[in-house]
Amino acid sequence: MRSVSIVGVGLTKFGEQWEKSFKELIAEAGVKAIQDSGLERKDVNAVYGGCMASGRFVGQEHIGALIADQLGLNPVPSTRVEAACASGGVALRMGYMAVASGIHDIVAVGGVEKMTEVSTEDAGFALGGAGDQETELFVGASFPALYALMARKHMKKFGTTEEQMASVAVKNHGNAVNNKYAQFHREITIDDVMKSGYVSSPLKLLDCSPITDGAAAVLLMPTEQAKKINDKAVEIIASTQASDTLALADRENLYETKAAKIAGKQAYEKAGIKPTDVSFAEVHDCFTIAEIMAIESLGFCPLGEGGKFTEQGNTQISGQIPINTSGGLKGKGHPVGATGVAQAIETYLQLNGEAGKRQVKDAEIGMTHNVGGSGATAVVHLYKKA
Ligand code: COA
Repeated sequence: MRSVSIVGVGLTKFGEQWEKSFKELIAEAGVKAIQDSGLERKDVNAVYGGCMASGRFVGQEHIGALIADQLGLNPVPSTRVEAACASGGVALRMGYMAVASGIHDIVAVGGVEKMTEVSTEDAGFALGGAGDQETELFVGASFPALYALMARKHMKKFGTTEEQMASVAVKNHGNAVNNKYAQFHREITIDDVMKSGYVSSPLKLLDCSPITDGAAAVLLMPTEQAKKINDKAVEIIASTQASDTLALADRENLYETKAAKIAGKQAYEKAGIKPTDVSFAEVHDCFTIAEIMAIESLGFCPLGEGGKFTEQGNTQISGQIPINTSGGLKGKGHPVGATGVAQAIETYLQLNGEAGKRQVKDAEIGMTHNVGGSGATAVVHLYKKA
């Protein structure tokens, strides 16, 4: 297996992008990533693109070929990867495996979603496809409702409070203020969250990630070659993935995310590190309770203590383990297919010291954790400067 590094990144602004088409979002992120690397289009050997539900959001399928076409990369092989909200993270893992195995030398990995073309109701229905159709979506359980069930269970078992969940949103909105690509640039308070109105009790509007348009892209190549083309290469030191039941009803319990725990443990083993060695992490905070459960599953705090740990400030940029310095899905936005790739871009910026006001001091090892559905897919990557 060859060591693999990220050598260039490209991101569009996240948010409602009425003035840009689905194709334009892909082109913008892809061209920026190629330019950032200093490589040329002819150098790219293959493409993996994460996209969850473009058929439902914009009526477009066949995204693999579309990406190659938009970027002028024909005739390279170009493959769409779908794993619900983890589509981007799994695409990154596919690209990583292609380069690590020696099948391809230079691979472009992208992610895209344009979600605001449809009503919130239709977007919710499209997103609901990530859960179990028969036992969840068919009977009206939206994603806010599924995460609300997990939140209720966590509250009952561990005493987690709505204020503790709100502290996740306050932190992530605060971080997003310093990210020019983020959907939201406004600070919020615990009181704002508490008064924001229930979407699915106990989750309120400001506990939810928004509906977002956006695209992200990175270029991957063998670390040895990467170090010769620029001094910004960031090595992927572990790439792991695990699965769990689609239906919440089939899980052992609702208060922990088993796939994330397994993928995290395997990633630490592969890299030969412990959770305390991680300098910062981008985790999948599609709802505030999801961040609390993620930091527990990834070993940053004990099971059941994620709410208290966050409320005490341990996950702030200056805290023990900075979480979601980009603003996370909550503040930066969540264009589902693009999210996993955008998380990798934040680690690239942090490890190169280019995160501006949200820079983590002495950042050495970064982690990304991207989840599909209510936890049925979990993909974890670890990174360090090459
Ligand atoms: N966080 C913060 N502000 C939000 C927001 C969010 N999640 N969603 C909407 N807003 C803001 C809008 O910017 C708008 O502000 P403005 O009036 O100042 O312009 C206002 O709230 C109303 O927006 P609107 O688009 O009407 O909201 P909505 O009621 O249609 O949608 C949700 C709100 C929470 C239902 C929607 O964002 C949602 O479904 N989120 C979850 C997405 C999801 O499930 N993703 C997959 C996770 S697995």
